[in-house]
Amino acid sequence: MAQILKASEENLRKAAEVIRKGGLVAFPTETVYGLGGDAFNPDAVARIFEVKERPTFDPIIVHIADFEDIKKLCRDIDEKAKILAEKFWPGPLTMVLKKSEKVPDIVTAGLDTIAVRMPSHPVARKLIEFSRTPIAAPSANLFGKLSPTTAEHVKEQLGDRIDIIIDSGKCPVGVESTVIDLTGEPTILRPGGTPVEEIEKLIGKVNILTRSDKPRSPGQLSKHYSPKTPLRIMREKVDVEKGVRAGLLAFRQPDDETAKRFEKIEVLSSSDDLNEALRQAAQNLFSALHRLDKANLDVIYAEPVPEIGLGRAIMDRLRKAEGMS
Ligand code: TXA
Ligand code: MG
Repeated sequence: MAQILKASEENLRKAAEVIRKGGLVAFPTETVYGLGGDAFNPDAVARIFEVKERPTFDPIIVHIADFEDIKKLCRDIDEKAKILAEKFWPGPLTMVLKKSEKVPDIVTAGLDTIAVRMPSHPVARKLIEFSRTPIAAPSANLFGKLSPTTAEHVKEQLGDRIDIIIDSGKCPVGVESTVIDLTGEPTILRPGGTPVEEIEKLIGKVNILTRSDKPRSPGQLSKHYSPKTPLRIMREKVDVEKGVRAGLLAFRQPDDETAKRFEKIEVLSSSDDLNEALRQAAQNLFSALHRLDKANLDVIYAEPVPEIGLGRAIMDRLRKAEGMS
């Protein structure tokens, strides 16, 4: 069973030693917990795929702590990438750029491009610095399953497959990074913790890929981020049939009339301010889904949220959990 370690300097040095020797460490970032290995060690990266049961056609994001490290990973750095890095790094933005030949092919699933991100979480940053190498890290969950926003979530899914989980409590953003491809016309491959509107303020209109026959990013696979319990987005008022145990993922506190129709309710936000409410909802989303998924329900109904700012990332995850995007 994995050891859960507090994020002390001593433990982070120990974890960095594990990374340097080719081992794997689960660690917190501001978005979700990651499962990290040395990006320049193909065996370590192969283990990541194995542990997650992730198909090897799905490339992995490489995490850096210092902007200079981008030169080890990328061939040329687009002007727009510099502008975005200046504003959003460190933070929940991943940029797809042209890959350097030095990066092992397994990291990028043989693609000519590489996804790079500089996380803002101090624990993630320390771990990368102490490891003295960029860290390849997908979310620390089994492929296609709910993402982890606590060390406990990681332990439940991967505890018997990895050695170390660094625990630093809840992830403050709660949804994964926004992935933007800058190798051609700027295109959002996955909405996430950095709102598209903020990106467009800097570099102008961007394409948003939501559905395509040939996914450019396996995060676009239509069923992903899924609980075991079937999830339905509530498009209108639902009538819960007698004998059906239904859960409700509510954006805001429901009225009593609505509430009494459900076995278990998770309320994602409490603020009257929409942006703040969306921030709270993103932060609570996966934890609430993990709890609902454990409540032995027949179905989870999810209330839609407005699709602006972080609401876009939330609706993307809900649609994928529903498997109908
Ligand atoms: O917030 C995050 O991004 C978290 C934390 C741990 O940093 N990581 C994360 O990784 O969500 P993962 O592997 O669960 O999702 C990465 C997404 C996948 O959809 C993958 O297909 C896409 O990024 N991706 C990675 N490299 C790519 C590339 N070269 N081109 C296109 N998409 C890429
Ligand atoms: Mg993931």
